[in-house]
Amino acid sequence: MEKKRYFPTPGRIFLAAGILLMASHVTAAPAKKFDLDRFIAPDTCGGCHWAIQEQWTHSMHNLSHKDPVYNRVAKFLRQGLTRAGEIEEAESCVKCHTPVGVITGFPDKLSDDLSKTPQIATQGIQCDYCHSAVDTTRMYNNGLVLSPGNGEDDPGVKYGPFDDSEPDFHEAAYSKLHQSSGICGTCHNVKHVAFGTDLETTYTEWENSPYNDPDPEKRVTCQGCHMYQRPGIPATGSTDRPKNPGSAAEDSVERPHIFTHYFVGANTFVPGQFGDKDKQALAEARLQHAAQISLNTEKLAKKQLDVIVTNSGAGHSIPTGVGDLRQVWLEISIQDADQKVVFQSGFLDKKNQLSEGAIIFRTVLGDGKGNPVVNLAKAKQVLSDNRIPAKQKVTQTISLDFVPTKNFVITARLLYRGMPQKILNMIPGDPLGPLPVVEMARAAQKI
Ligand code: HEC
Ligand code: HEC
Ligand code: HEC
Ligand code: HEC
Ligand code: HEC
Repeated sequence: MEKKRYFPTPGRIFLAAGILLMASHVTAAPAKKFDLDRFIAPDTCGGCHWAIQEQWTHSMHNLSHKDPVYNRVAKFLRQGLTRAGEIEEAESCVKCHTPVGVITGFPDKLSDDLSKTPQIATQGIQCDYCHSAVDTTRMYNNGLVLSPGNGEDDPGVKYGPFDDSEPDFHEAAYSKLHQSSGICGTCHNVKHVAFGTDLETTYTEWENSPYNDPDPEKRVTCQGCHMYQRPGIPATGSTDRPKNPGSAAEDSVERPHIFTHYFVGANTFVPGQFGDKDKQALAEARLQHAAQISLNTEKLAKKQLDVIVTNSGAGHSIPTGVGDLRQVWLEISIQDADQKVVFQSGFLDKKNQLSEGAIIFRTVLGDGKGNPVVNLAKAKQVLSDNRIPAKQKVTQTISLDFVPTKNFVITARLLYRGMPQKILNMIPGDPLGPLPVVEMARAAQKI
């Protein structure tokens, strides 16, 4: 790949003062804080950091603004709202999904004409956004404090994990923030802006998990799993997480570990919509190394089957993120000696809908009076949460109406998909989905 030409810039003496100034008006409205031309496009960073750029391209961070699932769901949820608090929430999505736009003045809210979003902001959560971060104001709803440079002519300081970097295009500085889960957590905890309801709690789940060891040597941060993953290496809690030696930029020094930038979670659909099959495969690998499942048949004589699910690989609950939308469920079938299915639970019908009574691990949001709500903008409470916390196991007891005796085969599978078909069907316009179903774990036993 051909390198672009750059000129070294003079040292910036007033940096410290600049950060102080910036920090003082962080929480103040309006959202616009910086001129757009202060941000440098990912393509420019990729001129030297080409391997990192390639990994990040078509990651869910790169696609956070363009993601068709997010866009269609967000517009659908905004429709027909009349109460101020609900509207405020439904308009707030761009703060995390289009962050460079929001801090440079457009879009300000979801209902702005998003087709007018400046090109750089359409590229989602990007290099210069994360690497200009110097602090956080709160651990939810994107409280990142930025100190960007002034565009390509004066790129300023890029913050990262090294304390001895001396690139000539930009300045570099060691940042503790970048090595902590907090840089992720400020966006990966989502609270309703008006009602304060916890809508996403990935960071809090991690914070309360054994992975957040008080000893920094033993602690496994978000980066410790998600920025070690690469093809062939799922890097979860149940697999090795070997270092990725190499260099961070064209012609720069060899380092024991270069953090990978695929930012793969569980999304096996959206990257594929943009032609990226590799990220889809990485997400499948992650899901397949997240959980274990086993059967306990001791109580079969009492017409009871125990299915035990262990979260062995995720640093947070399974599922995490948009826990009210994600579907992780048990598919159970029992076949008799003639291979006839005599019991089944958690099957998809011809319309891709989950059968009644399926065991689903999820959160249910409520209206504050105990009634479930589909629209997170109306959520005033979390009604229930039976997701599987990190390193914990849950036992689900299934009641049968017969006693399986000889030569029965019991099969249980833990399955994942991004969203229920029922919700996809509510969204007006071209059909969205169906979303792929991934087998996370399976157990089978003959009795
Ligand atoms: C979501 C935030 C985020 C985005 C987006 C992001 N990075 Fe990073 N990057 C990090 C973090 C965090 C680290 C350090 C991880 C640690 O030390 O635990 C890092 C490390 C680095 C490093 C040091 C070498 C290494 O990989 O360890 C370079 C160089 C880098 N990033 C460049 C880029 C470029 C270029 C892009 C865009 C193509 C980019 N980053 C996008 C968060 C981000
Ligand atoms: C002209 C080449 C070039 C360009 C363009 C470039 N970098 Fe770098 N960058 C480097 C080199 C060389 C290093 C030093 C790598 C090392 O020390 O291992 C570096 C280091 C870094 C680091 C690590 C800093 C630290 O102290 O940990 C980050 C983060 C980073 N760059 C981000 C970016 C971002 C973001 C962009 C785009 C806005 C960018 N770089 C553009 C060459 C470049
Ligand atoms: C500026 C806010 C922001 C920051 C900072 C951020 N993220 Fe994200 N992240 C998002 C958003 C928004 C999405 C979802 C985009 C979508 O699905 O449309 C996302 C998606 C992801 C996904 C993919 C989820 C899936 O379903 O596949 C992973 C993994 C992830 N982030 C990890 C991290 C890690 C690790 C860090 C810290 C190094 C981090 N994020 C920092 C906002 C952020
Ligand atoms: C011990 C390894 C590990 C750690 C630590 C970890 N994760 Fe994960 N993460 C996983 C695995 C495995 C999955 C896939 C299973 C799942 O979806 O829960 C995953 C999935 C995700 C997803 C996609 C969830 C979905 O269903 O859409 C997001 C977002 C995410 N992680 C963000 C984070 C953030 C943010 C942190 C830090 C606060 C973090 N992870 C810490 C292993 C880890
Ligand atoms: C504080 C940051 C933040 C805000 C604000 C935010 N999100 Fe997200 N969003 C995320 C993160 C992080 C993820 C990734 C979690 C996961 O993969 O489960 C995500 C993922 C999603 C997804 C899943 C996309 C997919 O491809 O499966 C949808 C849908 C979504 N968000 C809708 C919304 C809507 C609608 C709003 C506004 C009402 C909103 N988000 C506001 C951080 C945010």
